[in-house]
Amino acid sequence: MKKNKVVLIPGDGIGPEITDAAKMVIAAAGADIEWIEKKAGIPAIEEGKNVLPEDTLDAIKQYKIALKGPCTTPVGKGFRSINVQLRKKLDLYAAVRPVRNFPGIKSRFDDVDLVIVRENTEGLYSDVENEITPGVVMSMKVATRVACTRIARWTFRYATLRKRKKITVFHKANIMKLTDGLFIECAQKIHETEYPNIKYEEVIIDAGCMKLVQDPSQFDILLLENLYGDVVSDLCAGLVGGLGVVPGANIGENQSVFEAVHGSAPDIAGKNAANPLALIMSAVMMLNHLSTSKTDVYKTAANKIKHGYNQALSDGMKTRDLGGKLGTKEFAQAIIERLDGG
Ligand code: NAI
Repeated sequence: MKKNKVVLIPGDGIGPEITDAAKMVIAAAGADIEWIEKKAGIPAIEEGKNVLPEDTLDAIKQYKIALKGPCTTPVGKGFRSINVQLRKKLDLYAAVRPVRNFPGIKSRFDDVDLVIVRENTEGLYSDVENEITPGVVMSMKVATRVACTRIARWTFRYATLRKRKKITVFHKANIMKLTDGLFIECAQKIHETEYPNIKYEEVIIDAGCMKLVQDPSQFDILLLENLYGDVVSDLCAGLVGGLGVVPGANIGENQSVFEAVHGSAPDIAGKNAANPLALIMSAVMMLNHLSTSKTDVYKTAANKIKHGYNQALSDGMKTRDLGGKLGTKEFAQAIIERLDGG
């Protein structure tokens, strides 16, 4: 079988440690991948390049698929987020983040099985921020019918393919009548005209957050605009054990970038203390995306890795964020020792 080329962006902070762990696990599971390593963010600047170098973007456009570690964005000053730029420049409009319980991970609930779909290209992350006059600044929230319609259609199609039953939009259209109003109007239209069999509901986001922490099992797929999706993703991570266990994919028409929901975790970087599981699960999503049949090498590797981490967690193998003692490398090794049977 032809080796697939995948762009690897290690990122910074805990990024290099967790991408190394993911590469180790993928290789041990037998998925033959040629990694095309590219830089973005602080490591690119340190090499004298642009923060998001053209050759990194070109490689993703050429090979269509990337696995990405987290990239730091300075707070309140400095360069614009590479993560936001990457999603916009490559038009990776759907961020998909499955959130569920895992064996052996203690959390407040044991019946969480949610998928968050976040519109990834506009809203308040449209990068239109101005100083009108000293002391007066403005950030513009952008919603377009095209982007609101395509994320709604994508989500309903995803729900149908995954046999999911209900889509809930979290919004604030009572206050932002035009922007959030357009977001729900487009979702309603796709529901009514194309997917009437999938249940659809709208919840104002503040009440939605309260409902989520009271009983997450009442939700199935959550569809949110950009900023709400960002915030609610971390909230939902907290329902199942934290940021170490929530993977993600940024999907566009032409290319896809797989990355964990969490950031570069500078507080634990370089200490072999990060949980690599969220990135390893993102890699499983990537292998499933690469797979073209139920028995090919990518599907088989994805199943082996899933079996490996479920078994490792059931056996009490955990990193420190989950109350265990293992380091990043040791947890990856524990998965590798349990790949058989997948
Ligand atoms: P963060 O997600 O990096 O960390 C929040 C907390 O969770 C920290 O205490 C951290 O130690 C912990 N944590 C995160 N991932 C973990 C893992 N895999 N294992 C164990 N513990 C983990 O969020 P924070 O601190 O708000 O952001 C740090 C930087 O990351 C910022 O510069 C931010 O802009 C960037 N960021 C990048 C993202 C990306 O590249 N896609 C996404 C989110 C944030």
